[in-house]
Amino acid sequence: MHKSFRRKPLSLLLAEVNSEHRLNRILGPVALTSLGVGAIIGTGIFVLIGVAAHDKAGPAITLSFAVAGMACIFAALCYAEFASMVPVAGSAYTYAYATLGELMAWIIGWDLILEYGVASATVAHGWSKYFQDFIGIFGLGVPALLANAPFDFDSTNGMLTSTGAWFDLPAVMITFAVTVVLVKGIKESANFNAGMVMVKVAIVLLVIVLGAMYVKPANWIPFAPFGFSGLSIFGHTVLGETGPGGAPVGVLAGAAMIFFAYIGFDSISTHAEEAKNPQRDIPIALIGSLIVCTILYIAVAAVITGMVPYNKISIDAPVSNAFMQVGIGWAQFVISLGAITGITSVLLVMMLSQPRIFLAMARDGLLPKSFFGAIHKKFRTPWKSTLLTGAFVATLGGMLPLRLLAELVNIGTLFAFVVVCSAVLIMRKTHPDANRPFRAPLVPFVPIAGILTCLTLMFSLPVENWIRLIGWLVIGVVIYS
Ligand code: ALA
Repeated sequence: MHKSFRRKPLSLLLAEVNSEHRLNRILGPVALTSLGVGAIIGTGIFVLIGVAAHDKAGPAITLSFAVAGMACIFAALCYAEFASMVPVAGSAYTYAYATLGELMAWIIGWDLILEYGVASATVAHGWSKYFQDFIGIFGLGVPALLANAPFDFDSTNGMLTSTGAWFDLPAVMITFAVTVVLVKGIKESANFNAGMVMVKVAIVLLVIVLGAMYVKPANWIPFAPFGFSGLSIFGHTVLGETGPGGAPVGVLAGAAMIFFAYIGFDSISTHAEEAKNPQRDIPIALIGSLIVCTILYIAVAAVITGMVPYNKISIDAPVSNAFMQVGIGWAQFVISLGAITGITSVLLVMMLSQPRIFLAMARDGLLPKSFFGAIHKKFRTPWKSTLLTGAFVATLGGMLPLRLLAELVNIGTLFAFVVVCSAVLIMRKTHPDANRPFRAPLVPFVPIAGILTCLTLMFSLPVENWIRLIGWLVIGVVIYS
């Protein structure tokens, strides 16, 4: 058989799990769920909700959160089945290797750089926005030349415009800080993360409870000013309205954008190898963290769009700004601080996951082992690839605009979800008797629903993203061959 189609046998994967040179098994269900929530709540809910409500969905952004959450729950059930079967570090990459063969595994591994590496850059950007919002309270500011990426996305015409800045210094700084923590080790990272997760969940609850008192139901009308759909096939709107630059608008288009807010739950599966009892705890953590976040997101979306008319929602720091607009200035301090903390924990988990995907690929010989497989003697972390990830994230985060990065991440991640859902279907056929400590319910309905909802969201993104995704994957295939 040609090597591109060679699959990695399930038995080999399982034997590897029990072999030596593995990462430390120290994470329990609470630490794992907390890593999940740590990876989920961040730039999406604190930053992107602004542009999505303002330009894509209006108050109906609550429905967008529900739609994106549903797509993720279908995918999470499929991830949970796989993670319980093969609790190794590679996530979707490993699942593809076991089901679809080496080439597809490489493509997914390459695609996951969009999900983790490029997402980290997006998140670093979001961090920078709230950092600047926060220091602004004390009358401080980052010099304009160092406050932003050199160009930005103009949503009125869908074009890129120059910002006059050189690069986004705060985004670069936070990336370096997180890289240092990650090289030091997973235990320290997990503890650091648990503290930050508590802070951000507390802030999100504060936003919901305090914000609810300032909701004016009149702000929810019109509820869906951009319509309930927003679907285009390669640039031709087939459902709903078309917005500036030819991109679809409406609830689905909003969902495709704020899908970003959910990314990260699957990173729990990249920690399967460090879990004490992966078969039981990974499914609990995947689904638990997703359900918690979906409920919180819908509530935050309802509150923010109820506090401020959708067309007055800030694009840069929408949550803290909504409180400013209703006259509770002190909340800006607390919320910005919470957002900074919360977004830091997302960055931590995302940047923790990327080197672990590389590690799995290096073990299979798809990446140079001496570099990507190197585990630090003292810290037991994949330190070289962590440093490389840090450099990549800092460069992208410093130079490219938030929205462009976010949409690219979304399409890449949705593609990975489609593959994982398909892989569950294939695996059920090819290995019907394999030990599945967790079985996705209602197969084939759940994986098929996952594939269809994720594809719908992919089509609801502006068409340039398809071109970027295909370009990225073509580069990957060229490198492979
Ligand atoms: N879901 C993560 C965030 O919103 C990536 O920041």
